[in-house]
Amino acid sequence: MRKEKILVIGASGQIGVELTLALRKLYGENQVVAADLREQNPLLQGTGPYVSLDVMNKEMLHVQIIRQNITQVYLLAAILSATGEKNPSLAWNLNMQGLLNVLDIAREEKLSKVFWPSSIAVFGPSSPRINCPQQTVIEPTTVYGISKYAGEFWCNYYWNRFGVDVRSIRYPGLISYKSEPGGGTTDYAVEIYREALSKKKYTCFLKEDTYLPMMYMPDAIRATLELMEASASSIKFRTSYNVSAMSFSPREVCASIQQHIPAFEMKVVPDYRQQIADSWPQSIDDQAARSDWGWKEEYNLDMMTTDMLKNLPH
Ligand code: NAD
Ligand code: SER
Repeated sequence: MRKEKILVIGASGQIGVELTLALRKLYGENQVVAADLREQNPLLQGTGPYVSLDVMNKEMLHVQIIRQNITQVYLLAAILSATGEKNPSLAWNLNMQGLLNVLDIAREEKLSKVFWPSSIAVFGPSSPRINCPQQTVIEPTTVYGISKYAGEFWCNYYWNRFGVDVRSIRYPGLISYKSEPGGGTTDYAVEIYREALSKKKYTCFLKEDTYLPMMYMPDAIRATLELMEASASSIKFRTSYNVSAMSFSPREVCASIQQHIPAFEMKVVPDYRQQIADSWPQSIDDQAARSDWGWKEEYNLDMMTTDMLKNLPH
């Protein structure tokens, strides 16, 4: 069996920290190189190699991949939905050029696999809102969604045309306690737990009845690893897979927290992110992921609430 050497780009982000730690457990600490624009990350310190790297600098990225004998890349560097609406051209440039740089190098260096995440943000107001299918009308209205949609088809193109084994998941909103989220519309579902513990109150930027597809980070990490370990012949979609775990509203997450902290109070003051949330489906149909590579979630809302409140700093 070939010994893999993995590069995680965007390793200091919300997903990157936990994915890097999980990959290090599986492959060995020196087999997983963490890379990010940020100089370092305290959560990764002492756990394995870390390099400062800009994915937009293709030459330096190529040098690192050759120098470190990299065989697989997980590309997580991106600008998310809410930040993307504040600076659309920056979001488009990073989200597209970063991916094309990695796909080109993967083709040239014959990397064994690439992982690149898409998002529920590929869907727009014309997609079905409930149980949104794997294949459906896709007309995103945010720059982030447009970049994910285009990215999915670049992945499909590099697989079909050049045989680059690139795999992808349309992550729902991700909730975690280790690394903070980086500018998405679903970030309220992390902030609410932090502020419930620190202030016993929270002002939500989405309306109480805004349902969105969500997933707890341990499930997201496991989905990623399972997809990457699946046999190439079982991967039927080379664009990206819908994966689902739960769907809830701010009102429901508030009620779930109140079971542990009865004095917790939530107010709502919707802002520009409401429009983004309203353009996305409320729930996702992920039958394809379940039947192609055996996806199944573990956490529901109440299990996640218990775990978040136990692990966040008090
Ligand atoms: P994040 O913003 O928390 O982390 C992104 C990381 O990329 C940051 O550490 C940042 O410093 C780094 N980065 C930015 N520009 C870079 C560059 N030019 N070169 C190298 N590194 C750079 O994002 P995240 O939440 O961890 O998301 C990771 C991926 O997953 C993204 O593609 C995102 O679209 C996707 N995704 C995330 C969620 C979610 O809820 N977190 C949901 C759906 C999809
Ligand atoms: N959590 C992400 C966001 O809100 C979804 O891709 O941008």
